[in-house]
Amino acid sequence: MYNGIKIIIGLLIFAALVTFPFYSKMGKATAKPDPKVDTPEIQKLAEKKCVEPKEFMKTEHMKMLNDWRDTVVREGNLIYVSSDGKKYTISLQNTCMNCHSNKKKFCDECHNYSAVIPYCWDCHIEPKENKT
Ligand code: HEC
Ligand code: HEC
Ligand code: HEC
Repeated sequence: MYNGIKIIIGLLIFAALVTFPFYSKMGKATAKPDPKVDTPEIQKLAEKKCVEPKEFMKTEHMKMLNDWRDTVVREGNLIYVSSDGKKYTISLQNTCMNCHSNKKKFCDECHNYSAVIPYCWDCHIEPKENKT
């Protein structure tokens, strides 16, 4: 029995290794997405507000982006007037991504969680970010 301690440690390590894939996935599946809005552009804003109120953006941004694309592509309109009367240039790259330049910590944070992969970046240019 003088090797008992080693055997027990060995067993513990073994148990940790075989169960690791489960609890590491579990953590990911339950961790709520936490999109970060601390980009340089957003820090410059006097009021930390999106184009429309946050709750609206959360649920409607996909539809909004579709509408934006349609107004540009079909009607050639490049100005969006928000519900509080502010004017924005209609552009995914130059407007949304100018403020949300942290695509990985923002857009991807939620999309990975919900397993959505917008195909927009096949054509539209992603913001340059560190590969971490
Ligand atoms: C002027 C800078 C600015 C622009 C332009 C902008 N956003 Fe935002 N966005 C923000 C800020 C600041 C917040 C956080 C608002 C808050 O907490 O009330 C936010 C919040 C959001 C949220 C909700 C995040 C959450 O935590 O639920 C989504 C989704 C979003 N933006 C998507 C977009 C999309 C898509 C566009 C382009 C159509 C866009 N934003 C354009 C600054 C911007
Ligand atoms: C608060 C979480 C959250 C944030 C932040 C967020 N999204 Fe989304 N997005 C979602 C969810 C959830 C869906 C899927 C909705 C559905 O399927 O009904 C989605 C869907 C989309 C779609 C439609 C994709 C498809 O295939 O139908 C586009 C386009 C999109 N998001 C763009 C963006 C962009 C660009 C940003 C960053 C500026 C962003 N989203 C930030 C949660 C988020
Ligand atoms: C096959 C290539 C392609 C894909 C994929 C694509 N787009 Fe576009 N998009 C374009 C082109 C080309 C234009 C027209 C640019 C112009 O007229 O300045 C455009 C214009 C737009 C515009 C208005 C102008 C601008 O600069 O933003 C928006 C908003 C937009 N797309 C959103 C999206 C979203 C959201 C997705 C993903 C759900 C997407 N696009 C996927 C090619 C693409």
